[in-house]
Amino acid sequence: MAEPIVTLPAEAAAFVRGGGRDVDTARLAITAATGARVRLDDDGGDELGLAVVDLDNQRLRVLATPADGFARIDGALLGWRVERALAWRTRLGLPGPDNAYRLLHGGGDGVPGFTCDVLGRWAVLYAYAPALVPVARQLAEAVRGFARLDGVVIKVRARGGATDVIQEIIGDPPPERHVVLEREVPFEVHATGGLNVGLFTDMREHRVGLARHAPGRTVLNLFSYTGALSVACARAGAAAVTSVDTSAGVQAWAQGNFARSHLVDAARWRFETGDAVRFLARAAKAKERYELVLIDPPTFSTARGKAWTLDRDYPELIAQAAAVIPDGGLLWLAANTHELGSLVRLAQRGLRGRGVIVDQGGLPADYPTLAAQPRDRYLQVVSLRL
Ligand SMILES: C[S@@+](CC[C@H](N)C(=O)[O-])C[C@H]1O[C@@H](n2cnc3c(N)ncnc32)[C@H](O)[C@@H]1O
Repeated sequence: MAEPIVTLPAEAAAFVRGGGRDVDTARLAITAATGARVRLDDDGGDELGLAVVDLDNQRLRVLATPADGFARIDGALLGWRVERALAWRTRLGLPGPDNAYRLLHGGGDGVPGFTCDVLGRWAVLYAYAPALVPVARQLAEAVRGFARLDGVVIKVRARGGATDVIQEIIGDPPPERHVVLEREVPFEVHATGGLNVGLFTDMREHRVGLARHAPGRTVLNLFSYTGALSVACARAGAAAVTSVDTSAGVQAWAQGNFARSHLVDAARWRFETGDAVRFLARAAKAKERYELVLIDPPTFSTARGKAWTLDRDYPELIAQAAAVIPDGGLLWLAANTHELGSLVRLAQRGLRGRGVIVDQGGLPADYPTLAAQPRDRYLQVVSLRL
């Protein structure tokens, strides 16, 4: 049966012709059901591509254009996407029996609405809406076959951050916890736990970059999660590392990651369970000094009972952190959203004239994004010497 046809107005058609793959439906009249596989035509009846309707996110997810040579969205198309994505990661030297890396990154890999992280013998594939799950299942089969994995966990990453994770497994289920390698460094992941598995692979190259600055320095890592950035600093020869996070669960997980790297000196590797802002206030009062401070906050948090948002509250947090950094020390900042604009500008507001930029970066090469969708490059990282 032929796919239903959705006719795009001129502007949306030009976006697809220009390489766009996540078509905004806010101003389009879409009658097809969410999850439907459709053919996109321009208003002259010429085919633009094949898409899945994702009304939850107000998007048409374009999975193929006529130049790709596929008649429908099926296992053959998705397998071809996965094969090409894997070839790119192989060129980057990322695959290996236990390695963790991003295999599929949305539109940049021709699969808008989906991302996939390989975690050793298993992978976690994220679908960005429940309606995308049928395509996710086919994609998961392709990932499992081409990357020769035991199983793939499909998780729905729905809008609004629902707390219950909808997930299903294709192939063999992973153990509750297992260990993966990132550049030979072991990290524990929980593939069937929550939405996040314990390791953000987009930070891999930044962990390498950080290692250059850590030797001999006392490090403070705020919002430390499972301690991956802390481990990178400790392994690189930091004098001491203090990791601060509100969650006792992730602190225990972080300690496990330290132990896995044979970092067991409790006097040097400290774990503080509590609020980052309160920690900084107390540290400033006690005249504590940290020569390298890392801040990688969540975009939104209610950890202290009131909502904390990056764009409003980050400059003040930066100011508080700068107060515990001696001259010549480093402030390493990350932000996981493009919505707040330039991280450098926020830093400038917080630092009030102090500091020079010594490093700046974003997403690694296994996170390709479309030139037609510049806002997809969400990650901003900047290091300043104070
Ligand atoms: C985006 S993750 C940080 C990722 C981490 N830097 C890494 O590279 O793996 C956010 C973390 O911030 C923690 N968190 C949220 N609000 C906090 C607060 N007010 N103070 C300290 N930690 C907080 C969460 O528990 C979570 O572990």
